[in-house]
Amino acid sequence: MNAKEYTDMQALAERPPVSTHAQAPAAFAFEQLHKTFRSKDGGTVTALHDVGFAVRKGEFVTVVGPSGCGKSTLLRILAGLERASSGRVLLGGRAVSGPTRDVGVVFQAPVLLPWRSVLENVLVPAEVQGRDPATALARARHYLQLVGLEHFATKYPNELSGGMQQRVGIARALVNDPLLLLMDEPFGALDAMTRETMNLELLKIRERTGATIMLVTHSIPEAVFLGDRVVVMSPRPGRVTQVVDVDLPAQRTLELINTDRFGAYVSSIRANLNASGGLD
Ligand SMILES: Nc1ncnc2c1ncn2[C@@H]1O[C@H](COP(=O)(O)OP(=O)(O)O)[C@@H](O)[C@H]1O
Ligand SMILES: [Mg+2]
Repeated sequence: MNAKEYTDMQALAERPPVSTHAQAPAAFAFEQLHKTFRSKDGGTVTALHDVGFAVRKGEFVTVVGPSGCGKSTLLRILAGLERASSGRVLLGGRAVSGPTRDVGVVFQAPVLLPWRSVLENVLVPAEVQGRDPATALARARHYLQLVGLEHFATKYPNELSGGMQQRVGIARALVNDPLLLLMDEPFGALDAMTRETMNLELLKIRERTGATIMLVTHSIPEAVFLGDRVVVMSPRPGRVTQVVDVDLPAQRTLELINTDRFGAYVSSIRANLNASGGLD
């Protein structure tokens, strides 16, 4: 071994240990992402400006920002439903080129088909994917049970409350066993108490599926409660202004919301949003 090799080896040996976080492969990543829309009057609207962040496998990341800042656009690009104007989106290391069954999406409105039963609604993505019917049925029943609707399989959407409809939407997004679950303000239309219940349910679902989750919301407390990390976006054109590691117990309980630590995260994110143009 020559002197150069020796110093190289020593330098390598002396490098700080790679943290477990850094070792886990990225589930997805945005790199210098830009998105511009053509508006009706012929002008252009910049929805996303130079967005870049990476999310680890199994991580729950929340994206918070004011209405119109580009949250849905970001989610739709990751889901392959919209194309970026420039930059890259990597899913499991590969560039996203269109929708895939590895990604499940829950939208703000559950958009269930009124003429199909709960079970038949959950089966839609499996049918679209041409999945083996017996396997699809087993997965649909499994996820209906996970969201607490196993006894409602034969009901129709108009027989369900808003919270229950959204649970159907979640089971439907999970039916193909996606690696990544994307949620676009999924609880925005629900009353405060149902929303809290759904937040807790979602954490259970996350625990049981091990899915990577990205949830966008304009509620700062919801973003802090659910997220391992919170990505904060500025008003349009959406940029990432802050990425906050939420160092709260992994087992989140509603009591946590009344703690000073929780309050401190919420205030700091609110201050950041106000500084960049405000939430209100
Ligand atoms: N298909 C589209 N055509 C034109 N403009 C769009 C389209 N989709 C979104 N926008 C514009 O892009 C901006 C970001 O929208 P969106 O991603 O829906 O924001 P958010 O989900 O944060 O409320 C808004 O100004 C919106 O009007
Ligand atoms: Mg939106």
